[in-house]
Amino acid sequence: MIALWEACGLTRPWNDPQRDFALALASGASTVLVARVPVLGGEALAGSVMTGFDGHRGWVYYLAVAPGHRRKGLGRALMAGAEAWLRERGAPKIQLMVREENEAVAFYEALGLERQKVVTLGRFLD
Ligand SMILES: CC(C)(COP(=O)(O)OP(=O)(O)OC[C@H]1O[C@@H](n2cnc3c(N)ncnc32)[C@H](O)[C@@H]1OP(=O)(O)O)[C@@H](O)C(=O)NCCC(=O)NCCS
Repeated sequence: MIALWEACGLTRPWNDPQRDFALALASGASTVLVARVPVLGGEALAGSVMTGFDGHRGWVYYLAVAPGHRRKGLGRALMAGAEAWLRERGAPKIQLMVREENEAVAFYEALGLERQKVVTLGRFLD
């Protein structure tokens, strides 16, 4: 999973992806969904999405489709899976943060998500 995130440029030096992954699975309020594709002799991991419900909104992180499997609908299917997971838990809204220059913005807009006029603020907790 971490290799997939690295191949998709989603890891950052100030984040610990292994910890993120473990914490997402440890809490009942979040999960990681995966997309698998058939390969000779079995299946390979081709995509992932982390999602969680904070009681107000559903959030999406680590949406990743392996470079060799893009533009085949896996990203759309992973987002549909995240939406279904959130809907089951009563989340009224899905939301995510993405760098403005990321071409994934066009992907999200193709899925009907809209840009919002908000400023994101944050800091690490001591
Ligand atoms: C964004 C990402 C998950 C899309 O996955 P994907 O499986 O290729 O997406 P899909 O095939 O489901 O695409 C659905 C639609 O989104 C749009 N779309 C997808 N990738 C696009 C791109 N690079 N540029 C413009 N539109 C795009 C298209 O309309 C596409 O439909 P079409 O193929 O019929 O034209 C993938 O490019 C990726 O892993 N990127 C790197 C990681 C990343 O930036 N993740 C988001 C972090 S916030």
